[in-house]
Amino acid sequence: MSKGIAILGATGSIGTSTLRVVDRQQDRFRIVALTAFGAAEKLRQRGRETGAGFLGLVNAEPSWAKSAVDGRVHGTGTESLVEAATHPDVEIVVNAVVGAAGLEATLAALAAGKRVALANKETLVMAGDLVMAAARDGGGEIVPVDSEHSAVLQCITGRPTVDVSRLILTASGGPFRGWDPTRVATATVDEALEHPTWRMGPKISIDSATLVNKALEVIEAHYLFGLGYDAIDVVVHPQSIVHGFVEFVDGSILAQMGYPSMELPILYAMTHPERVADVGVKRFDPVAAGDLTFEPIRQDVFAAFALGVAAGRAGASAPAVFNAANEVAVQAFLDKRISFGQIAGVIDSALQAHRGDPAEDLETLLGVDRWARETAEAACC
Ligand SMILES: NC(=O)c1ccc[n+]([C@@H]2O[C@H](COP(=O)([O-])OP(=O)(O)OC[C@H]3O[C@@H](n4cnc5c(N)ncnc54)[C@H](OP(=O)(O)O)[C@@H]3O)[C@@H](O)[C@H]2O)c1
Repeated sequence: MSKGIAILGATGSIGTSTLRVVDRQQDRFRIVALTAFGAAEKLRQRGRETGAGFLGLVNAEPSWAKSAVDGRVHGTGTESLVEAATHPDVEIVVNAVVGAAGLEATLAALAAGKRVALANKETLVMAGDLVMAAARDGGGEIVPVDSEHSAVLQCITGRPTVDVSRLILTASGGPFRGWDPTRVATATVDEALEHPTWRMGPKISIDSATLVNKALEVIEAHYLFGLGYDAIDVVVHPQSIVHGFVEFVDGSILAQMGYPSMELPILYAMTHPERVADVGVKRFDPVAAGDLTFEPIRQDVFAAFALGVAAGRAGASAPAVFNAANEVAVQAFLDKRISFGQIAGVIDSALQAHRGDPAEDLETLLGVDRWARETAEAACC
């Protein structure tokens, strides 16, 4: 019996890769629900191609709800994400929404006992304790899609967690890895979007250029694997072949490797702990892969990385402030309202002004998120 899948963010980069994976695994999975923000025509077409019974469009014209055909349901607004995520025929929710907008659907899916294949890392950064509690209390489970966290999961599966002493996440270093600091500060939007090894949506591409993405991933790893920040290291690995290392208490290291493609981590998030045959994954040739190199992060050039890790260490609602301020700064940079070099300053101004509210419930966190957005927005002027 095939498993029902909901893809939140079905028109984006991860959503598209997920559809390719599901298309190759039709005996295991079937698409039940798809959502998008505003790409109505693309969503409609994907609904026709997959036979999805539910299509949710967050930013929909009033005509959208009435335009459903062939027994299909058209949902609207942010509640359509929750509707898709809690659909009774859905067993696995692939959350590929970008930013904090994915949080309520993750919480609802976990409370409804679903598996959440989580690409939307901002969800865990903003509300890690709430999300982990929702999984515990609701019987749902979170399986990471991020290639680094998938690598860690693949290395530790079947082993007692007490045996793990350290994680080393890899970072490609982004498009500005070897650049002069003054040149980085004035990098253009086009330059920042040109990632050397991964093709991704615009927000994560900018996060990779600032290395904010890696700070988000350190926080994500802290929540997913229950390790302290001193036990999570990052190393720059420009070839993006080794996705993550796990060090065990006896000093042994396991790593997961492969050519950069999100399709394997997406498939693994849906089948974990099982592995299934897949013809879509390019087989590895170590000779062709060539030299694998590693170097430290230049924290003096990529200041936002340290800000993110410090916010993670501070805990409570600081990671939510970091995430919200970063989302605002990235949008301001994409809109050409601030320079690349100002992104870290905007994030820092929100973190400096933050009073350290607790992160006990969703309402408080959403309030902190709104406050941080306003504060960061003011810093962009
Ligand atoms: N791309 C990668 O290789 C990669 C790798 C690891 C992790 N991730 C993570 O995966 C997530 C998605 O990344 P992506 O690169 O796939 O992004 P993307 O290409 O920009 O796609 C984002 C998707 O989310 C939808 N969306 C945007 N804003 C929304 C909102 N406010 N409410 C509901 N839906 C919204 C978009 O719909 P429209 O098309 O209608 O705008 C689109 O379907 C991010 O959290 C990213 O960090 C991505």
